[in-house]
Amino acid sequence: MHTILNALHSYNRYLILAALVYVLFRSWSGWMGKKPFEKADNTASVALLGLAHLQLLLGLIQYFVTSAYTTGDMPVSDPWVRYFKMEHISGMILAVVLIQLGRTFSKKAQSDEEKHKKLAIYTTVATLIIVGMLAMKGLLFGTLASVAAAGQ
Ligand code: HEM
Repeated sequence: MHTILNALHSYNRYLILAALVYVLFRSWSGWMGKKPFEKADNTASVALLGLAHLQLLLGLIQYFVTSAYTTGDMPVSDPWVRYFKMEHISGMILAVVLIQLGRTFSKKAQSDEEKHKKLAIYTTVATLIIVGMLAMKGLLFGTLASVAAAGQ
């Protein structure tokens, strides 16, 4: 069960990264270029939010049920245990909250410029957190297995 959840969580990272880049491109160019907020802008932000929620769900199940790093009795002095038990979960939940807030505030905004602006700012901060949290452990394009293999 853990292998499947972990693989889905791992592959979904690439979908999230692609969705982040697309939403960033559309929102910044829409804001700076004073473009109308189109159906494609709305669809892109819904897709990003859906993928982020799926990732949160897959992460929570691993965190509380299946992961050896967070449910086993490995010591917190182990850098990977500390990363997954504390740093990964807190950084990523913050990022998902920011993606949610960007979508909510963008929907509530009155003008198209404001809609683009809210998405651009919140998505930028969320992206920096996600990329930073993954890159610090070599997980931006790698897996735990590939990082461990490279370290040997
Ligand atoms: C945008 C959000 C997130 C991204 C991009 C992300 C990405 C990743 C990646 C790349 C890995 C390594 C997978 C591998 O080895 O192939 C990982 C592992 C893990 N993630 Fe996340 N994650 C996110 C959110 C979360 C959240 C919110 C939680 C907890 C609530 C979580 C819990 C975990 C756990 C427990 C593992 C380690 C699983 C194991 O190997 O035992 N993740 N995540």
